[in-house]
Amino acid sequence: KSFFSAVGGGPPPSPSKRHTKITVVGVGNVGMAIAQTILTQDLADVLTLVDANRDKLRGEMLDLQHAAAFLPRTKIHASSDYAETAHSDLCIVTAGARQNPGESRLNLLNRNVALFKEIIPPLAKSSPESIILVVSNPVDVLTYVAWRISGFPANRVIGSGTNLDSSRFRFLIADHLDVNAQDVQAYIVGEHGDSSVALWSSISVGGVPILSFLKKQQISYEKETLESIHREVIESAYEVIRLKGYTSWAIGYSVANLARSLLRDQRRIHPVSVLAKGLYGIDGGDVFVSLPALLGRNGVLGVTNVSLSDEEVKKLRESADTLVHLQRQLDL
Ligand code: NAI
Ligand code: LAC
Repeated sequence: KSFFSAVGGGPPPSPSKRHTKITVVGVGNVGMAIAQTILTQDLADVLTLVDANRDKLRGEMLDLQHAAAFLPRTKIHASSDYAETAHSDLCIVTAGARQNPGESRLNLLNRNVALFKEIIPPLAKSSPESIILVVSNPVDVLTYVAWRISGFPANRVIGSGTNLDSSRFRFLIADHLDVNAQDVQAYIVGEHGDSSVALWSSISVGGVPILSFLKKQQISYEKETLESIHREVIESAYEVIRLKGYTSWAIGYSVANLARSLLRDQRRIHPVSVLAKGLYGIDGGDVFVSLPALLGRNGVLGVTNVSLSDEEVKKLRESADTLVHLQRQLDL
């Protein structure tokens, strides 16, 4: 006699076939921050963890499973065999070397490209219909690498990009104005890194475009404040890495925010790293940089045609050119 009896006397219904499966590759600081936000925000029915370090991988799986009584039901698996990741809807890649204090993200390129050559082929083969979301740094170039190696259409290869930088920007502006960061709209685009571009024209507080407000009020010092806030955003990661050795919580929430828009087909607009060739005059070659993109179940549904100032377009192209130059050195 089974533990449960079926209602109506018939056989018990077969388990539902349709479930949402997320794979996270890399169970380090970032991968685990992402894994726990996926669980607490109930974003998946199945969560599969992958890492090269088998003990850490099993330890992290067990530790998360032991929280089951406090979380929405999610089957948690762990394996260093990519077959276990089969039929994932979303594959989040966080594996790789991280910056040492003072080190730039771009400096990680060669080490992490070598890892991607190992990771992306079996991952893509096991989930040929999935969306690949790259987090490892330098995220824009590694998203380009994941796109090239996987052979996936560009709408299904996305980098977390400046979704995190924009969140930092929104926090700092909100803190300056003493309002809720969720009422501050502000986009940083371009490279997730030192050459990112703040879209001043995109900043609005409670729907009020901030630049026109400043111009009307002749508040010039505020423009300097906004510029210093952007510089603080660029410095953010270096400061946190200097203080605690790595960043993890903000990227964890940033990636969960993207995963929800993608898997729940929210059609929200996020600044994420997309194939930008041919957009905003970026024509130096295939390159991924962050632009405001509409995200849904099929990945990137489109990129908004926001009107940028000449200065913003110039900086965006320079940001893209920096990455194209680096990509030319790669042997893919
Ligand atoms: P970590 O060192 O804590 O974790 C890296 C993990 O990758 C380790 O568990 C390691 O075993 C695993 N790994 C290494 N080689 C592997 C392979 N061949 N297959 C599978 N797993 C492998 O590093 P952390 O702090 O988690 O950072 C990971 C990456 O995320 C770094 O590149 C870092 O720069 C990046 N990052 C990106 C952010 C963004 O906004 N895009 C924000 C924060 C970090
Ligand atoms: C960040 C770095 C690590 O936290 O990419 O922005």
